[in-house]
Parts: sequence; C-alpha cells; structure tokens
Amino acid sequence: MLQPHEARPRGPLEAALVVDVLRATTTLTAALSNGAREVIPVATPAEGFAARARRPDALLCGERGGRIVDGFDLGNSPFEYTAERVRGRTLVFASTNGSLALLAARGLRRVPASFANLTAAVDRVWRASGIVIVCAGKEGAFALVQPRDQQAGAGSVLERECTFLAGAVRSLVEGSRHGRDLSAMGRDYARDVTWCATLDSMSAAFE
Ligand code: MLT
Repeated sequence: MLQPHEARPRGPLEAALVVDVLRATTTLTAALSNGAREVIPVATPAEGFAARARRPDALLCGERGGRIVDGFDLGNSPFEYTAERVRGRTLVFASTNGSLALLAARGLRRVPASFANLTAAVDRVWRASGIVIVCAGKEGAFALVQPRDQQAGAGSVLERECTFLAGAVRSLVEGSRHGRDLSAMGRDYARDVTWCATLDSMSAAFE
C-alpha cells in the first residue's frame, strides 16, 4: 500500500474527494465558500514561502503542530478565513497532512470534503466516471492506521445513503485523537473541532 503522499490514481479516475476533517479540508471549504479564488497546496512551509515569492498577491496559509507558521498570513482555523480576509485571494496552503493529500490527487478534479460539506462534496462528484477518496492521514501514515477522524470521513462518504447521525459524527470527531489534541490547545481550537464535527453546516463544495 502506498503512503498518502506517494499515492497516484490508477485506472480511469476523474475526481478525488480529499478528506482532512480536522481541519484542512473543512478550512478550505470555508475559505472557498467565502470567496477565495484558488488554493495552491504545497508540501512544506519553505515551499510556501517560495510560492508566495512568485505570487506576492497570495495569502500564505497553513500550520505546523496546529499553529500558524511564523511569517504566514493565516493558520488553519476555518474561522480565520472570513470573506474580508480571503475574497478574491489566492491561498498558498501548507498544512501538515491536508496539503499532501491534495498534492497526491493532482491531475484529478479535487474536491475538499469534510463532514461540514459532506452532502455537497458527494453531490459534486457523484456523476464522475471514477472517484477516489484521498484521506490525509497523519504524517504519512497508511490509510488503515489513520486516526479515527479521517477514517470516519471517508466511511461516511461511502455510506452517504445511510443515515449517519449528526450526534454520532460529533462524538466521533470530538473523541478522535486529533480532536482531543486540538481541543486541549485552547478554546479557539475546541471551537474549530466542534465546527469540523458539524454535519453539513456548509452547503457548497469546490474544485
Ligand atoms: C493537517 O493538515 O495536518 C491538519 O489540518 C492539521 C490541523 O488540524 O491543523
């Protein structure tokens, strides 16, 4: 099995649902909902600085250890990506795992998917000729040993037609390892986790 950052689509795939529930794909959906023009994923903060040097108009965004990187404009909280900050802007995005998942799906129609836009994300790709679900995992770990939040995101995409209770999603995400780690970092982070665990709070999906 390939590591997430090594994964390349095989076969006649058209679209990728890219899942990093906590928090990258939830955050990017919020950003694009608020009018961000495009997202350029990069693997590392150093690549981010280099990309921004080529695109001085871009916002440099992302995190390491969950916290905004020194010199970046925005971190990885969905609440930072307000319309005032991001409307019409290009985002160079360097998060620890979510960016790698986006890069792994390059060449396909890439749709950031999360619990917060689950229905919209699935609807966006439903008619694609072939769909792959790319889970961010954690620091290159295999999908099968991903934290529960990522597994849950992919599983619920597959089982969309089953009723997936909103309360179950919330307890799953809030109880996941990364959810608990983020919540322990402070009130703002706990608010992020709650938002990321709210099923279909956003009705849009983007490519
Ligand atoms: C990531 O890309 O690794 C995550 O979105 C981490 C985070 O919660 O900031």
